[in-house]
Amino acid sequence: MKPFIYNIPVKVYFGEGQLSNLGRELSKYGKKVLLTYGGGSIKKIGLYDEVIKEIRDAGLEVFELSGIEPNPRIESVREGARICKEENIDVVLAVGGGSTIDASKFICAGAKVDFDPWDFLDLEKRAKIEDALPLLTILTLSATGSEMDNGGVISNLKTNEKLSNGSMCMLPKVSFLDPKNTYSVSEYQTACGSADILSHILEVYFTTENDLFMLDCVMEGLMKTVIKYAPIAMKDPTNYEARANLMWTSSWAINGFINGSKSTAWSCHPMEHELSAFYDITHGHGLAILTPRWMQYCLNDENIYKYVQFGVNVFGIDKNLSDREIAEKAIEKLSEFLFNDLKLQSTLKDVNINDENFAIMAKKACKGKESIKGFRELTPEDIENIYRMCL
Ligand code: NZQ
Ligand code: ZN
Repeated sequence: MKPFIYNIPVKVYFGEGQLSNLGRELSKYGKKVLLTYGGGSIKKIGLYDEVIKEIRDAGLEVFELSGIEPNPRIESVREGARICKEENIDVVLAVGGGSTIDASKFICAGAKVDFDPWDFLDLEKRAKIEDALPLLTILTLSATGSEMDNGGVISNLKTNEKLSNGSMCMLPKVSFLDPKNTYSVSEYQTACGSADILSHILEVYFTTENDLFMLDCVMEGLMKTVIKYAPIAMKDPTNYEARANLMWTSSWAINGFINGSKSTAWSCHPMEHELSAFYDITHGHGLAILTPRWMQYCLNDENIYKYVQFGVNVFGIDKNLSDREIAEKAIEKLSEFLFNDLKLQSTLKDVNINDENFAIMAKKACKGKESIKGFRELTPEDIENIYRMCL
């Protein structure tokens, strides 16, 4: 096991009634607040009014950037950075899902530089993110974990690129996690968000590196939590216990804790980001389609033990079956969960994706490298094969 650093300094207010702390927390960073949000769901659920009241009661001045898109666009980031510079904004408050929070992270960084914020993401320029305005978040959708991690993903539809970058200076200072704010999330977005959470864990769990047994147990617990509670939240959207479990799992799935010393590259995420970049599909749905096929494609005699561990510990498959049977059953169970319990359509054709861009997407998924050095090394040819398995 290699040495590792654990450093997740995000202050989390979890549960109901915590918004009364918002004004005080914002005030620590200054007087001028840029409030960022998406297409209006926060107005429908009354959260917008509550937030505005807290900000005004604290004597702060509020500016707004609304309309941040799902799969947030670089144009929104540019606009936010422009407002921050022109109005001398002190602190950004993102209210929404991963898209609003991700865009806000790059707005915070973009506010500190004179160049185009796309340069932070562009694979050739890859400008260093060295400084950013402080960011606070109020999460309204359990999925990406952006509320507690330091990365973000931004799309440039003009160039069919969806790229990520991260920096400790973009980590939210404070995040407010009230499960009630997710009651209004649709059945479909709940399913997609849950598939995303599960994928964040699977990307780390499926590794060939030896690491802490303790972390494998934590990951198995997190996965069981998603499998237990996502169908409940879909059926009964105001079930507090289900929403609370999904919310806290979303944060812990990707905040760095479960990584330990592992450095294996993620596989399904870069493959999915190309689907979103070319076809603007919902991230979690793309992951759901890809993940079981990726698992099937990667399975071999050397790594089968991981599938067995997963099948037995997460899905309770009989450990007396042969390793091959357990592995196959584990993939089957995962597919059943994603496509039956979460009711997500199971093929790329279902989301109107055909094979015309597979070759270019497979190459781009390697992000300028020869291959993805993940659980199993994937060349562009392998990635194309996996895309084909999803048709
Ligand atoms: O825009 P509004 O009106 O708010 O509606 C949103 C949007 O249409 C809606 N929604 C959010 N909260 C709601 C709600 N509707 C009703 N009630 C609520 N309480 O849901 C839709 C999707 O929102 P979005 O923010 O796009 O979803 P999500 O949180 O899944 O974020 C997805 C984005 O995050 C990136 C994805 O690639 C994608 O661009 N990711 C970010 C990561 C990170 N920062 O670490 C990691 C992830 O792997 C992921 O790549
Ligand atoms: Zn994800």
